[in-house]
Amino acid sequence: MRVLVAAETAPKEARVALVPAVVTRLVGQGWQVSVTAGAGRGALAADADYEQAGAEVVTDVDQALPAADIVVSVQPLPAEHAARMRPGAVSLSLLQPGSDVATVAAVAAAGASLLSFHLLPRISRAQAADALTSQAIVTGYRAVLVGAGLLPHFLGLSMTAAGTIRPARVLVLGAGVAGLQAMATARRLGALVSGYDVRPASADEVRSVGATFIDLGLPPIEGAGGYAREMDEERATLQRERLAEYIATHDLIITTAAVPGRRAPVLITPAMLAGVRRGTVVIDLAAESGGNVEGSAAGSIREIGPARVWGAEALASDMAPDASFLYAGNVAAMLGFISPGAAEADVASGPVPLDTSDEVIAGCAVVINGEVVNPVAQELLSASGPAGGRT
Ligand code: NAI
Repeated sequence: MRVLVAAETAPKEARVALVPAVVTRLVGQGWQVSVTAGAGRGALAADADYEQAGAEVVTDVDQALPAADIVVSVQPLPAEHAARMRPGAVSLSLLQPGSDVATVAAVAAAGASLLSFHLLPRISRAQAADALTSQAIVTGYRAVLVGAGLLPHFLGLSMTAAGTIRPARVLVLGAGVAGLQAMATARRLGALVSGYDVRPASADEVRSVGATFIDLGLPPIEGAGGYAREMDEERATLQRERLAEYIATHDLIITTAAVPGRRAPVLITPAMLAGVRRGTVVIDLAAESGGNVEGSAAGSIREIGPARVWGAEALASDMAPDASFLYAGNVAAMLGFISPGAAEADVASGPVPLDTSDEVIAGCAVVINGEVVNPVAQELLSASGPAGGRT
């Protein structure tokens, strides 16, 4: 089966879906791999490295797309590329069914299939394919380094003959994968770290990385599958009121709160920042999905009261070689789910056999052979009128 690594086209995307080391492994398993020329540049992988790993480097993407059985990318394929896939081929990426509607429509119209890592069930069997986790690990780590770079203070204790500098106080809101990684990273750099989350399991998780859990005296909230639920307005207001004193007493605040399928919750308002110390830095990791900090903007630093608030943008892409290596491992694991033990299968022009009785494939499926199966995408497509796909 032929896998095509599509070059990313989004302006700030430097990652690539497969790196040469993982290509070598896949070729050894019997996969044929094509790579769009230059696809690995941002991740420091040259075309020659891919060739050495056994891949074919292709320059004409318009010809390569219809020849591929599985097209892998980080961001969703642009609709005009998705439209060139052959019927029965599969696109695999970090597509968001609730926002990448043009790509969904194009894949459906092409009679192809679309799997998204965003929908991967978080079960132990699927852990190796969990791209949200691998990329959140990079993001959480990077957030601390960017925050440390903006902070006009040491993070860790410094004791010299000239005097003692106390460790910085770091507060992380949201203790999911990125949040816990941020807490662990800030701890390793010597900061005093506190964390908060609404999920009942989060107190132990925060303590397990050496941080102090902040108890706001509010009942925990939990939705399906161990994820958070959206807060009602009354709870959101109480949470903000009780968090205010912690915001005012920390030097670096990193917000990571998210609720699947919803706009990010607002945890910090300008009023809460009005009284903070000069030099306070806030990193809003949720800036690209609505923002945990009211007034933050993805990709820019805003002064809100005395605080500097950076709206995080494309953080994993800042560490493209490592982020791509981890993502490529997730892609390789997913190829194993798509075609278990059959890398060498010749599907000619027939559909790639997707086993929808497997909960991993069924979970990730947005489109199967032209049929839109994801309810969020179905709703969006029917709201936007006839888009060419079958629902
Ligand atoms: P996420 O990126 O969806 O959200 C980040 C965090 O924000 C979550 O911990 C959530 O509880 C928190 N949050 C939501 N609303 C909040 C609010 N109002 N105030 C404070 N915090 C708020 O989360 P992520 O990183 O995807 O992890 C979600 C869950 O999935 C966690 O329980 C995690 O342990 C679990 N998980 C399980 C895996 C597995 O079993 N394979 C792999 C990765 C995560």
